[in-house]
Amino acid sequence: MTDKKAHLTIDGIDTKIECPVLSSTIGPAVIDVTGITKNGFFTFDPGFMSTASCESKITYIDGDEGILLHRGYPIEQLAVSSDYLETCYLLLNGELPTPEQKAEFTSEIKKHSAVDSSIANIIKSFKRDSHPMAILCSAVAALAAVYNDEIDITNADSRKLTAYRLIGQMPTLSAMVYKHRQGEEFIAPDNNLSFAENYLHMTFGKAGQAPNVSKTIAKAMDRIFVLHADHEQNASTSTVRLSGSSGTNPFAAIAAGISTLWGPAHGGANEAVLEMLEEIGTLDNVESCVARAKDKTSGFRLMGFGHRVYKNFDPRAKVMKQTCDEVLSELGLQNEPMLAIAKRLEQIALEDPYFISKKLYPNVDFYSGIIMKAIGIPTEMFTVIFALGRAVGWYSHWDEMVSSPYKIGRPRQRYTGSPKRDYPKK
Ligand code: ACO
Repeated sequence: MTDKKAHLTIDGIDTKIECPVLSSTIGPAVIDVTGITKNGFFTFDPGFMSTASCESKITYIDGDEGILLHRGYPIEQLAVSSDYLETCYLLLNGELPTPEQKAEFTSEIKKHSAVDSSIANIIKSFKRDSHPMAILCSAVAALAAVYNDEIDITNADSRKLTAYRLIGQMPTLSAMVYKHRQGEEFIAPDNNLSFAENYLHMTFGKAGQAPNVSKTIAKAMDRIFVLHADHEQNASTSTVRLSGSSGTNPFAAIAAGISTLWGPAHGGANEAVLEMLEEIGTLDNVESCVARAKDKTSGFRLMGFGHRVYKNFDPRAKVMKQTCDEVLSELGLQNEPMLAIAKRLEQIALEDPYFISKKLYPNVDFYSGIIMKAIGIPTEMFTVIFALGRAVGWYSHWDEMVSSPYKIGRPRQRYTGSPKRDYPKK
């Protein structure tokens, strides 16, 4: 807390409302408005443009400066020097693991990577052309049924076991969703492989065949997971917190987060990027596409550009762009027509006054979509991979919330409907 106070005066009301100003480790101080209700007011902030919904020690973002820190560590350093499971440990526990802690954590995640047979049956019951996010959401919600009796959200050990189960089973579930849609047999996790290798093996491997995963592709996949691991109080994480604040089963809260991530303004953007590139089709159409994005009446936006928080550049996009170049050269795909369209779009948008003045830069989804396309992952699976990486972020925020005193989330509203009136007499 600072010793500063904010004072709110309202025309026609004598009382001056005093609000404490709370400091942050870095970033803006916040005005605590919890006391204003006793004066008969609520604050009004649609879209949470100026509202901190909670206090958190996990992730810090400075959108103007393009800074993203997990537990204080810059994302660029984690992406290059760490790996996904170490980043998971960091997000969950607040500190980087010692080599022994990392080995134990990795072993626990592997130990919990197989899914219950009831989940396999649920996945198989879906029509093969169902959207993968619908299947994943249902499969994760079904984990609530598998483990409901064993979870005690007030017990730290029970929460730790639930974290191992979630992080361990997300790659297995994601691969099963893919295999089901392909009409292929599920591949069991192989504990001799790294986290990313295992995901790629379960996705692209064939039953009865030994794993055959490229190290460069596995490294790129792991980096995609690291870069998506957490992102502060975004829509899906806020959903997980709000849902979890009722004391619900954590797998049910994560399923709510998956539903939120699905939308094109959030995690669905990387899928939308590829659909847009396919629709553009040839280099000749790029300029008319940019013109359409600038025309308000078209209702069309350039997918993969712009961000609610980053108004300068997205630090994840910088690392993702570099990974994108590495993967394309490893696969010999630098001259793919769709990638040429993406590069041209990026160049035009970065030089166009409309995009410059509105601070619309390529976001992480622009490049991750291109990498995943090059790896051979179908477009509809992109958001599933985002969910796989983000599961740890959702869980860390849920865990942070339930391990301290918390209240059920209950926003209020500004009512603009009809005043009270009587039902017409008959
Ligand atoms: N293409 C064209 N114009 C755009 C775009 C875009 N991609 N994004 C924003 N604008 C324009 C808007 O029309 C608006 O113009 P105006 O000020 O003249 O009215 C201005 O830029 C600000 O747009 P808002 O929607 O107010 O910005 P907001 O911060 O609310 O939205 C968002 C951010 C949703 C990401 C938006 O930029 C967008 O729709 N981008 C495309 C979808 C996308 O890539 N989403 C991925 C987000 S990253 C993630 O989830 C990991």
